[in-house]
Amino acid sequence: MKITDLELIAVGIPRHTGFVNKHVIVKLHTDEGVEGIGEMSDFSHLPKYALDLEDLTMGLKSILIGQNPFNIIKINKEMLDNFPEAMYYYEKGSFVRSGIDMALYDLCGKYLGVSAAELLGGRIKEKIKVCYPIFRHRFAEEVDENIEVVRKRVEQGFDVFRLYAGKNIEADEMFLERFTKEFGSKARIKSFDFSHLLGWKEANMAIKRLNKYEVGLEMIESPAHRNDFDGLAQIRLKVDYPISEHIWSDRQQYELIKKDSIDIFNISPVFIGGLTGAKKAAHVAEAAGKGCVLGTTQELSIGTAAMAHLGASLINLNYTSDPTGPELYTADVVKDKVVYEKGYLLVPSRDIDGLGMELDESKIEKYRVDDLKWGETSVHQLQDRTSQKKN
Ligand code: LMR
Ligand code: MG
Repeated sequence: MKITDLELIAVGIPRHTGFVNKHVIVKLHTDEGVEGIGEMSDFSHLPKYALDLEDLTMGLKSILIGQNPFNIIKINKEMLDNFPEAMYYYEKGSFVRSGIDMALYDLCGKYLGVSAAELLGGRIKEKIKVCYPIFRHRFAEEVDENIEVVRKRVEQGFDVFRLYAGKNIEADEMFLERFTKEFGSKARIKSFDFSHLLGWKEANMAIKRLNKYEVGLEMIESPAHRNDFDGLAQIRLKVDYPISEHIWSDRQQYELIKKDSIDIFNISPVFIGGLTGAKKAAHVAEAAGKGCVLGTTQELSIGTAAMAHLGASLINLNYTSDPTGPELYTADVVKDKVVYEKGYLLVPSRDIDGLGMELDESKIEKYRVDDLKWGETSVHQLQDRTSQKKN
């Protein structure tokens, strides 16, 4: 089998918060008539420059056309040569590599008549515990809205949440106070996610204040500036909870292990450049005696299904994971979305081939956008994932 063509289609999908995220859907065509689909998820992250889709399509065609899609390691190597790691969490090259690698698993799975989980090593679980994100409070007035989000999601079956924290600690405290009072044993918060916004000392002070609420924490996420391996190692010894951090390059993961900076590796294909890289990172974590969680950029269903297949095959996925993207968006581009049940992401059935997602062309047409251009979105909107322009 040979890859004969590639298509990239950009879509802009609104969230319930009003924020519109741009994703790129990948189609790989072959001389056997089998088609692989993938997702370059969520280009709506800083830095505020955009890839040129036409140029990207041409560049990727020059790498991929004529290749045997089963040569996944070789293709990944060539993709890495063209889109090198950058020691940066939101490096757009990683999103590009991830979308292509995902489409290869879809394609090869479909050709063989097996699911992507089987290609990734087989399943040790059929569902993955996940949490719903509560976006960062900038103002006290947002507490009401966020409590309402919890109410609605608890009704729907979610019982674990993740709080983006650290911008307005008073508001965080108000939220936690109300959360514990109203939801008691019905719901818990698995992590305070500081998203690298604070230095480790400031984060440590914030944790001391937020810690007084009994919310069932599993971990503290990203409580230091990006690539501050020493800072993470310091704070790790000062707080009682495990520390987790995202993985965005081999080098960064090596430094985190060498300095024993964290306890839990937060792994997402989009940030490490694909399922292949994510699986490697999870194995490295396992070899270092560490746990992992599946992180998220908030993917659509294709990207989320890919993570479900990956998670199904991981032996050290021993904390609550994050992918709930399809629940955050008002629409998707597939016929049947991934399924959440009682706070779990279900791994697509063994009977499906590849990722098990089928594109809905009418939805693609509806949400199609011409390019990945930014317009006027502010940094605050990007950090808060909201359409509201607040300063
Ligand atoms: C999102 O898009 O909501 C997340 O990727 C935000 C983040 O950076 O954690
Ligand atoms: Mg994102």
